[in-house]
Amino acid sequence: MLLDGFGRRIDYLRLSVTDRCDLRCSYCMPQGFKGYEETEHWLSFDEIERLLAVFAGLGLKRIRLTGGEPVLRKNLPELARRLAALPGIDDLSLSTNGTQLAKYASPLRRAGVTRLNVSLDSLERERVRSICKRDVLPQVLEGLEAARAEGFRLIKINMVAMAGTTDDDIDAMVTYCMERCFVLRLIETMPVGETGRSAGYLDLLPVRERLRQRFGLVDGVVPGGGPARYLVSPDGRFQIGFITPISQHFCETCNRVRLGVDGSLHLCLGQNDSVDFRTLLRSGCTDADLEEKLRAALHAKPWRHEFRERPQQIVRVMSATGG
Ligand code: GTP
Ligand code: 5AD
Ligand code: SF4
Repeated sequence: MLLDGFGRRIDYLRLSVTDRCDLRCSYCMPQGFKGYEETEHWLSFDEIERLLAVFAGLGLKRIRLTGGEPVLRKNLPELARRLAALPGIDDLSLSTNGTQLAKYASPLRRAGVTRLNVSLDSLERERVRSICKRDVLPQVLEGLEAARAEGFRLIKINMVAMAGTTDDDIDAMVTYCMERCFVLRLIETMPVGETGRSAGYLDLLPVRERLRQRFGLVDGVVPGGGPARYLVSPDGRFQIGFITPISQHFCETCNRVRLGVDGSLHLCLGQNDSVDFRTLLRSGCTDADLEEKLRAALHAKPWRHEFRERPQQIVRVMSATGG
């Protein structure tokens, strides 16, 4: 079992396989963004597999593929297949913007990805265009239908709730998800980069209470390893999660770290601490060296984010760590 310096069990890795994205969501990537990682610095599939095999040997159980947009990484299903086969890994999932799901749902499922989280902030075509800077709603909806037809066990819709932008889309999204048995999650905007800071924070606690009353929801549990807290309908058919890093933070139960495409292990989404694994991986190291460095890195994991106290401190854009 891998414990951090505060005794938290770390068994969930968010693996960013690319920092590129085909969208420019207002809360995530600035328009005209140029700060991409050089491709020579990207970890290869062999390097990723080796590092994660060592991590799995220490107690890693879950891997989530993230981006940028993860399906933009060439041959992603091949990487997924290799990671799903690692001894000890029992949950391989993907966070995607859904624009290419129609093409990738089937190969990813065959490769061993069992859970999908798909970003969808509105069902209004023009609003999606204005948030993402591309007219992608029809494509994303088609991708979601393809994923459903493919038989993915659990599909979650990630909706970033923004004051003055998506707050009045929430009820329509509830209906859409209820009709399709998708799990809806509402997310508070986080001040990661200037884009995140200017996104229009909306406190989700009043929204949660309104939806609880309106639909007669009760506290519930949904499979997954992330920070969402769920309400469910009494018959269990509708499930909605609230991800509330600002109004009700959840760092005391944090179980994860993030590996960037360049081999930097980011220890907390809301802190700048990171540990470089690329240099070691490329220096002819042993697995014991990797193990020692992983243990030391996790020991240095910060206690919590400071999004409220120091909202300016994260200059990284969200797409660099995949959320
Ligand atoms: P599962 O619960 O395993 O389905 O995944 P998840 O909800 O953790 O993953 P997803 O990629 O769908 O992330 C949903 C939202 O939660 C995104 O906005 C993430 O940035 C946010 N999130 C995930 N982990 C953390 C975390 O450790 N801290 C904070 N502050 N936000 C997180
Ligand atoms: N605040 C909250 N969530 C964000 N995401 C991207 N940027 C932000 C932000 N600034 C979400 C995306 C995606 C998930 C991985 O992270 O909507 O669903
Ligand atoms: Fe791309 Fe996802 Fe960031 Fe949107 S939130 S710009 S889809 S990485």
